[in-house]
Amino acid sequence: MCGIVGYIGAKNCVHILIDGLKKLEYRGYDSAGIGIINDNYCDVIKTKGKVSDLEKMLTGKNFTAGLGIGHTRWATHGEPNMVNAHPHLNKERNLFLVHNGIIENYSSLKKGLQKEGYNFLSETDTEVLVNLIDRYLKKKHNLGTAVRYALNEVEGTYGIAVIYKNEPDKIIVARKGSPLVLGVGVNENFIASDVNALISHTSQVVYLEDNEILEIYSDHFVAKNISDKEIIKEIHEVDIAIDEISKGGYAHFMLKEIMEQPESIYNSMRGRLLPEEGTSKLGGLQGFEDRIAHSDRILISACGTSWHAGLVGEYMLEQYAGIPVEVEYASEFRYRHPVINSNDTVIFISQSGETADTLASLREAKKKGALCLGICNVVGSSIARESDTGVYIHAGPEIGVASTKAFTSQLVVLALITMLISREKRLSVTDGQYLINEMKKLPRNVEKILKMNDTIEKIADKYVNAKNFLYLGRGYNFPVALEGALKLKEISYIHAEGYPAAEMKHGPIALIDENMPVVFIATKDSVYDKVMSNIEEVRARKGKIIAIANEADDQIDKIVDHAIKIPQTADMLTPILSVIPLQLLAYHIAVKKGLNVDQPRNLAKSVTVE
Ligand code: AGP
Ligand code: GLU
Repeated sequence: MCGIVGYIGAKNCVHILIDGLKKLEYRGYDSAGIGIINDNYCDVIKTKGKVSDLEKMLTGKNFTAGLGIGHTRWATHGEPNMVNAHPHLNKERNLFLVHNGIIENYSSLKKGLQKEGYNFLSETDTEVLVNLIDRYLKKKHNLGTAVRYALNEVEGTYGIAVIYKNEPDKIIVARKGSPLVLGVGVNENFIASDVNALISHTSQVVYLEDNEILEIYSDHFVAKNISDKEIIKEIHEVDIAIDEISKGGYAHFMLKEIMEQPESIYNSMRGRLLPEEGTSKLGGLQGFEDRIAHSDRILISACGTSWHAGLVGEYMLEQYAGIPVEVEYASEFRYRHPVINSNDTVIFISQSGETADTLASLREAKKKGALCLGICNVVGSSIARESDTGVYIHAGPEIGVASTKAFTSQLVVLALITMLISREKRLSVTDGQYLINEMKKLPRNVEKILKMNDTIEKIADKYVNAKNFLYLGRGYNFPVALEGALKLKEISYIHAEGYPAAEMKHGPIALIDENMPVVFIATKDSVYDKVMSNIEEVRARKGKIIAIANEADDQIDKIVDHAIKIPQTADMLTPILSVIPLQLLAYHIAVKKGLNVDQPRNLAKSVTVE
């Protein structure tokens, strides 16, 4: 988690660092700080709270420096307060460091350092790194070597940036498990955890790989691996417009991203449909189609919302490709000693492409010889780079912590993959053509649903004070129920659970009374009648029912409290439409509760720690 920025060059870095941290705040936002060095002074300024709090502390202070690093934290070790905020420092030596990740063996390292006389100010794991580096500086090593020696003693994950008063011509950065990108400018260089924080300065970037250390000067950089061997790094040109990462007139990124879905869904399928053949083409999978289609099994590994997308993918692939599919939480997958064979395909779904558990499970599956296919949004992210083959969802930057447009685009891509590998199996040309037709209609259908925003807001009004919510769906809509519940709990802090509708009577039905809102996803598909019976069961117990139903369904209005009507589409594509009212419902409830929907408490956009 956490965001790291850095600058070296002739400009005053303070504004550059603050501006970069604001763009990275979605990654962590419990405390923030910067460390700056110039000829006359060096300083660390940090605070509990948000980057805006840090900015306030800096007003009127007129700091200027051409070298600096900054951090916005998502605490793993030690509560979010000023002392635990980064940069961490060794005061005597004026050595400053920011870190993203977890030093797993920090406790034993700390004991050793304490015996040598080092004092620790914070409760963080990070502080051991500063003192470890200092220990090697004391032995007269230069900063680059000291960082390398220190990292050789460390177990865990890190993205770090280090600056040092006695060597003010460089920033040292290193990566293992946590993302870092160098932005190459003219006589100035930038670093950040994510390219979004760089693109207002440069489009030339270098992605750090694990076990790489870069010495960054203002006019060049030197890349080495952890064994001190020099390596050549490729400079990539990135293509992201600045307005893609601003709110564009919306109150929140989350609302902007929900509203962008007609376009993001279109972008995910653009140029990828083959209407005549009733299938798709995916450049990233070229040459791997047969191997995927003839896999013994498909495993899907992901976390959170991406895991929900994986569940929908399971239904799609089993229905059309006829290949057994298993979906796993990446965090379980990586430690469970899963049976993976070389004839399996493992799909890794991740918006950020940096989720630590998903990345670790990818590495595990790779070791076992399976074909690893990444479905990512962030171009150039670790999962995208380390997969054998993959497909970008092209949803555009997603900044709101609650994932919305990435989910619908992940579903589009899973549908495309299903079509690609199913044509020789259970998908006839006509069926394929029908699916393509329905896919083409998705952007327009999503627009129609978004027009119901006001109606959904009014429904939200009635349930702002609810303490619990139940979400129920069957078949393709079961994962949508899980996703609806996740959206609500993460931004409104209302306890919500998703269940397969029929499972309700095996337990959750005990919760139902007149105070329990129950959201049913009851679209006209093969399990519609069964869902209707489940609705009756809730009704009989006086639960309040909000139903997501199809436009043509005029029966449902008679038995539910609120019906939100969406266009009908192919069963397989229904989740792409049925989830949208649930995103809006969660959004409006959270806004009405006065909560920060873009940066909900305790969460971060990209979970780069286990
Ligand atoms: C989504 O709303 C959540 N914030 C979270 O569950 C997220 O989907 C999960 O952390 C996985 O992230 P990824 O897609 O970037 O791997
Ligand atoms: N483990 C470090 C801490 O708790 C870094 C956390 C982060 O990645 O923000 O301070």
